[in-house]
Amino acid sequence: MVEIRTGDLVLRPIELEDAARFAYLCNDIDVARNTSRIAHPYSRADADAFVAKRGAGMFGDDNEYVFAVCRENEIVACAGAHGTGDTVYEIGYWVGADYRRQGIATRTARAVTQFAFLELGATVATAGFFADNPTSGRVLDRAGFKATGETIAMHSLGRGESVDTARLTLARADFEVSPAIVITAADA
Ligand SMILES: CC(C)(COP(=O)(O)OP(=O)(O)OC[C@H]1O[C@@H](n2cnc3c(N)ncnc32)[C@H](O)[C@@H]1OP(=O)(O)O)[C@@H](O)C(=O)NCCC(=O)NCCS
Repeated sequence: MVEIRTGDLVLRPIELEDAARFAYLCNDIDVARNTSRIAHPYSRADADAFVAKRGAGMFGDDNEYVFAVCRENEIVACAGAHGTGDTVYEIGYWVGADYRRQGIATRTARAVTQFAFLELGATVATAGFFADNPTSGRVLDRAGFKATGETIAMHSLGRGESVDTARLTLARADFEVSPAIVITAADA
């Protein structure tokens, strides 16, 4: 099984049994408003559909690698890398309301970016944040991403409208591998 360890956080593939926890953590207006594909309110049926597509051995299907971020065996956040081009991966994440401002997003963003570069063969990582969510921009800055200067309109399901989205990028050549992020690959 793929596993990423960074300090006390363990990132592992999603399991079908995670549905109740995702239903709880995702039913949060801040998560819905600041991501593109999370409805609000977020129902148990939404969570069941989410884990059905990504749990039970489906990690990596559709070139999408989604991790449950756990601390002491409890899911506190979610993050992923999604292939959008041959060797280009889009990084995304959210952190549960009770776990913010502890550095979890920063460490998680670094971890999935390192996973994309080292395990998926990415040459470029990309990311975006809604213009009215500068906290996420600072997370990406700390993870090494640079603004492209481009702003695009992206739809947010939670808002029901398009939102100005700042785009960022990070080339493999500019990424500093951290020995504190330990990846155990599936065939290890
Ligand atoms: C945006 C979001 C991901 C940030 O997650 P987070 O885990 O709180 O992020 P971090 O803890 O790494 O950084 C947030 C702030 O906490 C600060 N911080 C980190 N550890 C801290 C600590 N121990 N004590 C106090 N503050 C701390 C960071 O310096 C940072 O400050 P800044 O906003 O002034 O830069 C989270 O609020 C979230 O999930 N929001 C909803 C969904 C979302 O926005 N997803 C991102 C889509 S692009």
